[in-house]
Amino acid sequence: MRLNMALGKRDAFLFYFVYILQITAASPRMFSIDYKHDCFRKDGEVFRYISGSIHYNRIPRVYWKDRLLKMYMAGLNAIQTYIPWNFHELDPELYDFSGDRDVTHFLQLAQDLGLLVILRPGPYICGEWDMGGLPAWLLKNKDIVLRSSDPDYIAAVDKWMGKLLPLIRPFLYQNGGPVITVQVENEYGSYFACDYNYLRHLTSLFRSHLGNEVVLFTTDGAGVSYLKCGAIEGLYATVDFGPGSNVTAAFSAQRYAEPHGPLVNSEFYTGWLDHWGEHHSVVSTAAIVKSLNEMLSFGANVNMYMFIGGTNFGYWNGANTKYAPQPTSYDYDAPLTEAGDLTDKYFAIQDVIRMYRKIPEGSPPPSTPKYAYGSVKMSLLTTVSKAADTLSFNGPVKATYPLTFIQLNQKFGYVLYRTTLPIDCSKPTPLSSPMNGVHDRAYVSVNGVASGILERNKVITTNITGKAGDQLDVLVENMGRINYGKEINDFKGLVSNLTLGTQDLRNWEVFSLRIDEAISDGLLWEGDIGEKSPSPPLWSSAGLFPPAFYIGSFVIPDGIPDLPQDSYIQFPGWKKGQVWVNGFNLGRYWPDRGPQITLFVPANILSTSAPNNITMLELEAAPCMSGPCTVKFTTMPVLNATVTSTTDQSRQLFHKQDLL
Ligand SMILES: *[C@@H]1O[C@H](CO)[C@@H](O)[C@H](O)[C@H]1NC(C)=O
Ligand SMILES: *[C@@H]1O[C@H](CO)[C@@H](O)[C@H](O)[C@H]1NC(C)=O
Ligand SMILES: *[C@@H]1O[C@H](CO)[C@@H](O)[C@H](O)[C@H]1NC(C)=O
Ligand SMILES: *[C@@H]1O[C@H](CO)[C@@H](O)[C@H](O)[C@H]1NC(C)=O
Ligand SMILES: *[C@@H]1O[C@H](CO)[C@@H](O)[C@H](O)[C@H]1NC(C)=O
Repeated sequence: MRLNMALGKRDAFLFYFVYILQITAASPRMFSIDYKHDCFRKDGEVFRYISGSIHYNRIPRVYWKDRLLKMYMAGLNAIQTYIPWNFHELDPELYDFSGDRDVTHFLQLAQDLGLLVILRPGPYICGEWDMGGLPAWLLKNKDIVLRSSDPDYIAAVDKWMGKLLPLIRPFLYQNGGPVITVQVENEYGSYFACDYNYLRHLTSLFRSHLGNEVVLFTTDGAGVSYLKCGAIEGLYATVDFGPGSNVTAAFSAQRYAEPHGPLVNSEFYTGWLDHWGEHHSVVSTAAIVKSLNEMLSFGANVNMYMFIGGTNFGYWNGANTKYAPQPTSYDYDAPLTEAGDLTDKYFAIQDVIRMYRKIPEGSPPPSTPKYAYGSVKMSLLTTVSKAADTLSFNGPVKATYPLTFIQLNQKFGYVLYRTTLPIDCSKPTPLSSPMNGVHDRAYVSVNGVASGILERNKVITTNITGKAGDQLDVLVENMGRINYGKEINDFKGLVSNLTLGTQDLRNWEVFSLRIDEAISDGLLWEGDIGEKSPSPPLWSSAGLFPPAFYIGSFVIPDGIPDLPQDSYIQFPGWKKGQVWVNGFNLGRYWPDRGPQITLFVPANILSTSAPNNITMLELEAAPCMSGPCTVKFTTMPVLNATVTSTTDQSRQLFHKQDLL
């Protein structure tokens, strides 16, 4: 109140009165951009965020608080999350915001712990998530132009945002919540369409639901070429880049689009993504702390992508082009592991943050304990071919030519295509997908005997033998939709005809398989479809067995405190498939290709009061022929085994070449 001294008594009284009024009018919560001083302002004060990405959709709800608290204790003052559209709108206007999908509960938890939120509701998110978060049902219009002004796409976006954004509005900072900024679209400048009308439409859509005060922003690669189509008036342009980039050059790219305002790196890469069949990505802590320190010393706002990666449970992983699906783990070599464990990287980052802001007193919650439940014997239950009727509920659809997943109204998992051989194939005869139309992997059998595998972009022909009239079964796996680039209209199943010799195969019976529902409903456990030993032998000479279900169970021991605990499951001698524990779809395993060997098993899906049931769908061959069929629970993750096949890395680390 030094100012008082210069004022007369009456003026002083008036000043004081006005001052009190301002305070008691509950100084409005405000979050804004100060273009004059190149910073954010929160309630009028200069503000800078040091944030980390966490995707609630990749972490069981019971662990949200633990992970957020660890982020808070690292010294972060904000978190960033995507909202994947396809995780919430399962079919048009069929919404799910319950349990693991309860995004507003997640926002509330963040706020309760003292964390602000940078929200990225898409509609497109990329994120190594199936179809970049877009719902597969959009493909019912087979010509739809996604991420553009296409009226069908816009109509669906408008409906979704009309549902989502009103839920978000009370969580905006201005309205008493934790959300300080909201991102529109994601790296739009990397997309071919370059449709400014689409970005303009999203801008007014977001404004109409969220109001005029909230800071809306975009994120693009730190290069002028990206910002050309990614930045637009009315949305604050930010950039993303990883360690090793030239920080000065990267931020000067942001300055190309935003001559004034805060410097923001919306995705500073603490690690990197993986693909099946490529080496596990590792990014050195030394490189991260060096760049992080440099950015913070510039006064920049930084979000670390990822601070915890988590898990692509079920079928949620995406893929890059040339078709390269991502594995189940999204560990990302982040400072908190897939299981939320503390790492050296975590503490090194905390040490850097400590130089710029006060770290909360005390220690972060410890890593959760892991338990090795040991080996579990698995027994063959039945093959997919034999269980097709049980699994398809409504029976097969007859079609002259193959139908795609979406034509069957199926989004994820597996579809069985069945026909008969039109000709004798006494000599090995090529079964081919000349248009590379197996999306994405097909397991072929003749009269129930495994015969070969076709794989998108890799194997388009396999030889079969048999007689005219023999049953040909082709089980097609959707390995995850492309999440980045111009090929995100990624139809699944047999998307073109198969040929036998020179002729197109026709007259299919197509089984839409509801495997997850069948497992939850216990249908697969009913005795009548089980079998003890397969006869006649179904093994092919190449050592393949037709896709089949295996079951086993284990009991959690008594007398050990604090069980159940988290674990990892590994698959000695198994090849490739999908695994469920107590009906929860843990994801895909593919130790035969790598680099991921173990799958994370969160404690919350385990039971101490009943035997825990494991169901496996093994697609190639179980180890039973040469020894016991077992899976094993261990305490250590293995995500970096050497890989058995390599593909060209389709999305390089960072965007160095694009920097100014
Ligand atoms: C980083 O970029 C700036 C601006 O483009 C340039 O002046 C500088 O030489 C670069 N530094 C290095 C180490 O390449
Ligand atoms: C299929 O069989 C033919 C004739 O035996 C052989 O020449 C060809 O290499 C085989 N193709 C494959 C993909 O195994
Ligand atoms: C299969 O071939 C038929 C006849 O050539 C054609 O009409 C049809 O469109 C093809 N189907 C697919 C999915 O390519
Ligand atoms: C496992 O399956 C058995 C037999 O159906 C059932 O009694 C048990 O409750 C199941 N366990 C769990 C944890 O659901
Ligand atoms: C995998 O990671 C572990 C732990 O960091 C390391 O000890 C091991 O050498 C790595 N293995 C391979 C094949 O890179």
